[in-house]
Amino acid sequence: MTQAHASGVDQAIRELGPWFHNLHLPGGMQTAPQHEFGDFPSFKWRQIAPHIPQDLHGLTVLDVGCNAGFYSFELARRGAQVTAIDIDPHYLAQARWAARQYGLEDRVSFHRMQAYDAATLPGSFDWVWLMGVLYHLRHPLLALDILRRKTRDRLVLQTMTMPGGEQMDTPRDLGLDQRDHLQSRGWPRMAFIEHRLAGDPTNWWAPDNACVLAMARSAGFDIERQLTHETWMCRATRPPDPFVQPELDAILGLPGRGIA
Ligand SMILES: C[S@@+](CC[C@H](N)C(=O)[O-])C[C@H]1O[C@@H](n2cnc3c(N)ncnc32)[C@H](O)[C@@H]1O
Repeated sequence: MTQAHASGVDQAIRELGPWFHNLHLPGGMQTAPQHEFGDFPSFKWRQIAPHIPQDLHGLTVLDVGCNAGFYSFELARRGAQVTAIDIDPHYLAQARWAARQYGLEDRVSFHRMQAYDAATLPGSFDWVWLMGVLYHLRHPLLALDILRRKTRDRLVLQTMTMPGGEQMDTPRDLGLDQRDHLQSRGWPRMAFIEHRLAGDPTNWWAPDNACVLAMARSAGFDIERQLTHETWMCRATRPPDPFVQPELDAILGLPGRGIA
C-alpha cells in the first residue's frame, strides 16, 4: 500500500467513525482498534467460525442488524451471497465503504431496513444471521416469526440475556390455579426495560436462556446447539406454533387471515 493510499484509508476511517465493528482492512489498518470490548467482533467470530461450514457457495444469507458488516464479510468470504440490513445509515455507510475495500461488493448488498421489513424481501434465505439485535426490538417474537418465514435452513441467534441459566421442561398446559409454577426456577423469563440499560434506550428486553430458546422454538426453530455464550445455532426444521400464522398474516396485512 502506498503512503498516500494509507493516509486516504486512515482519513476515511476517521470520517466514517465512530465504529462499533473493528474491521481489519486489507493493508492492516483497523477501524476501531481501541474498542472497549477488545477486538470486537473478531474474538466472537473465532468462537463461532468453527461451527460454520468453510464453503458457503450456493447459499444465501440474510444478516439482520449488520452494522458495519463484519459477519456479512466473513460469510461472503466463504462464498455466501449476503443480503444485509440495518436501520442505521451511519453503519450502512461504513459497511458499503468497507465492502469496496475488501472487493466484496458483488457478494454483499446492504439495505436500510427494519428487521420486520425482512417480511417484504422476496423469497427466503438458506441462513439468517440475527446477532445482537433481538433485545433492541420492541417486538422480538414478531421478528422471530417473520424471520422463520424467511429461513430455509438455519438461524444463528445471539442476544443479550439476563443472568440465570436454569431451564425446565414446561408442562403442555397449566391450570389457572397453578400459576405459582410460573415462578419456578427455569420457567422462561424476559425482563422488560422501560428506561435504559447501558445508557441505551433501545435495549428493551433481557430474556434468560430458557426464554430465548422457548421463543425460538415457538417461532418454529429447533435448537441445534449452543455455539458460545448467548449464541445458538437453530434449524428451521418444523412449522411454527399453529397460532402464529393467522396473527402474523394479520400484522403483515396479508389476505387469508381465516376470519369470516
Ligand atoms: C449491537 S449491534 C449488533 C451488530 C452485529 N449484528 C453484531 O452482532 O456485531 C445492533 C445492530 O442492530 C441494528 N438495529 C437495531 N434495531 C434494529 C431494527 N429494528 N432493525 C434493523 N436493525 C436494527 C443497529 O443499528 C446495530 O447496527
